[in-house]
Amino acid sequence: MHDEWLNRWRERRIGWHEHEGNRALKSHWTATGRNVLVPLCGKSPDLMWLCRQGNTVTGVELSPIAAIEFFEDHELRVTEKDGVFEALDEPLRIVVGDYFAYDETGFDALYDRAALIALPASVRPGYAAHTHKLVDDDAFHLLVTLEYDQSRAAGPPFSVGKGEVTDYWPDLRRVESRNDIENSPPKFRSLDALYEVVWLGGA
Ligand SMILES: C[S@@+](CC[C@H](N)C(=O)[O-])C[C@H]1O[C@@H](n2cnc3c(N)ncnc32)[C@H](O)[C@@H]1O
Repeated sequence: MHDEWLNRWRERRIGWHEHEGNRALKSHWTATGRNVLVPLCGKSPDLMWLCRQGNTVTGVELSPIAAIEFFEDHELRVTEKDGVFEALDEPLRIVVGDYFAYDETGFDALYDRAALIALPASVRPGYAAHTHKLVDDDAFHLLVTLEYDQSRAAGPPFSVGKGEVTDYWPDLRRVESRNDIENSPPKFRSLDALYEVVWLGGA
């Protein structure tokens, strides 16, 4: 599975990447002054946006290409040691490696867009359990997931339903659901609907 992601980055098959960042993040995120964890972060400009809100930001990402490109895209001065890419002038870093081997704890905010839904059903319970270990229970949480008819199209990204999300995070509230079929990859275009769903929790 790791090779597939690393190959995607090498071959630039990164259709999930949002050049302008995520719309739902900008409308729903309210936390400032937090220590934010962004699992499976890619080179998302959302890292920069979260930092601009006065947060300290840690992304975790398998591909060094993503990390290098993130700092280039944002023209940030960076140092790298043992796979940790750290901005010199901003409280922002990307830890390159397997998220499941990353063990720093004490985060008081979580941002997950296209991380939970990037993983197959067999891996998702382990992802949620691991994230619970790293992130405080009362942390601010914002998750952006997708819901569509999984029997009519294959992931990734996978459809993750309401029941599954609340099994993992019982306190999360489903605050928005928007049919985003027009912006979806071609393989989903035969579906009637594909919902981008926003989940919020904590304070
Ligand atoms: C669908 S992309 C989403 C990226 C980012 N969250 C965004 O919104 O642009 C999933 C990312 O997770 C990374 N990834 C997959 N498995 C991982 C793992 N076990 N540890 C760390 N990163 C991983 C992939 O390389 C890819 O960049």
